[in-house]
Amino acid sequence: MARQVPARLSSDAEVRALAASSLVKLFDSLYEGAVVIDQDGRITWINDKYKALIGWNGSEPIEGRAIEEVLPNSRLRQVMETGQADLLDVLTLGRRQMVVSRIPLHGEAGNVIGALGVILYDRLQALKPIVSKFQQMQTDLATVRKQLADGRQAKYRFSQFIGASRLAVDTKELARRAAEREGAVLLLGETGTGKELLAHAIHAASRRAEGPLVSLNAAAIPEALLEAELFGVEPGAYTGAGNKSRSGKFQLADGGTLFLDEVGDMPLALQPKLLRVLQEGEVEPLGGNQLRAVNVRVIAATSRDLKAMVDAGSFRADLYYRLNVLPIRLPPLRERREDVSMLCETLLEQIAEQGGEASCTLAADGLARLIAYDWPGNVRELRNVLEQAMAQSDSRRLTGADFPMLPDIQPMAALDPTGSVVNSLEPRVRPLREAVAMAERQEILRALEATGGVKLHAAKLLGISRAQLYEKLAILGILSQETDT
Ligand SMILES: Nc1ncnc2c1ncn2[C@@H]1O[C@H](COP(=O)(O)OP(=O)(O)OP(=O)(O)O)[C@@H](O)[C@H]1O
Ligand SMILES: [Mg+2]
Repeated sequence: MARQVPARLSSDAEVRALAASSLVKLFDSLYEGAVVIDQDGRITWINDKYKALIGWNGSEPIEGRAIEEVLPNSRLRQVMETGQADLLDVLTLGRRQMVVSRIPLHGEAGNVIGALGVILYDRLQALKPIVSKFQQMQTDLATVRKQLADGRQAKYRFSQFIGASRLAVDTKELARRAAEREGAVLLLGETGTGKELLAHAIHAASRRAEGPLVSLNAAAIPEALLEAELFGVEPGAYTGAGNKSRSGKFQLADGGTLFLDEVGDMPLALQPKLLRVLQEGEVEPLGGNQLRAVNVRVIAATSRDLKAMVDAGSFRADLYYRLNVLPIRLPPLRERREDVSMLCETLLEQIAEQGGEASCTLAADGLARLIAYDWPGNVRELRNVLEQAMAQSDSRRLTGADFPMLPDIQPMAALDPTGSVVNSLEPRVRPLREAVAMAERQEILRALEATGGVKLHAAKLLGISRAQLYEKLAILGILSQETDT
C-alpha cells in the first residue's frame, strides 16, 4: 500500500507554518485562564474564567490595573521586561497551585510589547502528577523545617533534675540563677552527672527560651571539621566547600544558646577564634573576610579538670576565664547518696515507660547495694544498671542479687543514708563469667580515672584498641553509647 504523504508537507517552511497553526489551536484548547499585559505591566485583557478563578467581582473594571495589584505573585512583568518566556511554572493562587505558562508578545518590529500569561491547570491531565508532586514536596519541606526547629529546642526542664540532697538543691538553685542572667555558664562535673540536662534546663528557663538551643560536642567532631562547624563556611573556602555558604553553629544559635559540650576537647588552635566570638559577638566564617554579628549565649560543659589543663598549658587561660563567668559544679552521685533512692524511683518508672512494661520496685537490700556503690558513671551508670537488672530479672521487685554487675557490699561500707548498718550479703562464689566481668570493669574504670577520661589513652594502658574499649564500656554499662563518642 502506498504511503499517504500530505501534499502540503513537502518543504521545511510548510512544516513550520503548519506546526505553528496547529500549536495555536492546541494552545487555544488547553488554557484555563488567560491574561495579557502591556508594556507598562497593566492588564489590557483577561478572560472571564481567569476573573472567576481569582474571585474578581464583576462591578469594577479590572483592565488598566497593574498586574501585581490583581495577582500579587505574578511574574508576568519580568517575562515582559526580559523577553524570556516561562514555559512551565507553578503559581500559587490563594491555596491552589496551578501550572502556568508565560510568553512575551512581540510587535511588528520584533520588540516586546507585552506578555501573555495562561493557566494550564485543569484541562491538562498530564500535568497533574507534576502538580501533586510539587504539593507533596511543599508538605515534606514544611515537615522537615518543623523537625529542624524542634531539634533546636530544650529537651529538659529543671523539674527533671532529681535530687533533694543539700548538694543537689544548691546546684539547682545556682543553675536557676544562671538562667536569669546573661553571661557564659560553665558546667563542671564527672561523666553522667547531668551537665547536658542542666544546660537544656537553663536555656529553657532563660529569656532566650524562644530562641534556638544548638549543641556542639567538641570531642565528637574531627578537629579538621570543627572550625567550619562552629563558624561556618563561605563559598569556595577550600576545595570541596562548594559554592554555597554554610552557617556555623554560632549563626544557627543566633538569638538563643550554644551548648558547647566537652569544651575541654576544643583544640588549642581554635581557642583564640572562639574567644574572639565570645568577646566581640562576631563570627568570621571560614574563607570569608567579613565578620557577622551574632547574639549567642554560651553554656559550656566538660568532665575534665579545666583549671588543671590551664596550668598544664593545654587550655588557654583567657578562654577559661571567659567561660568561667558562672561556674556550676555538678556533684557526683557518691557525694549525694541520699538521692539514690529518689533517682531509682524516677529512673525505674522512665525505663518501664519507654519499654512499655510494668515498673519495678526495689527491695531494701537492692537499694542498699546501689547506695553503697561509688558510681563512677553517675546517674547515667545508675540508669544503665537499673535497665540491665530490670531486663534480666523475672521478678518486679529487685533485690541485691539482681545487681551482680556491682561489686559486693563490704560489711563496713554497707551504710544506708542515715548511717545505720544495712544487712550485709553473704560473701559468695560467683560464676566465673561474672567475676571476670567485674574484674574487667574495675580495671577499665581505674584506667579511665588515671587518664582523666581520655579513652584513647585508657585503651593504651589496658593494652586494647579504642574500639574494643568502647565495646566493653557499652557491654559493662559504664557509658551509654549514644552520648559518648
Ligand atoms: N539529677 C538528675 N536527675 C535525673 N536524671 C539525671 C540527673 N542527672 C543526670 N541524669 C540522667 O543521666 C543521664 C546522663 O546525664 P547527662 O547526659 O546530662 O550527663 P553529662 O554530665 O552530660 O555526662 P557526660 O559528661 O558523659 O556527657 C541522662 O539520661 C540524664 O537524663
Ligand atoms: Mg554530656
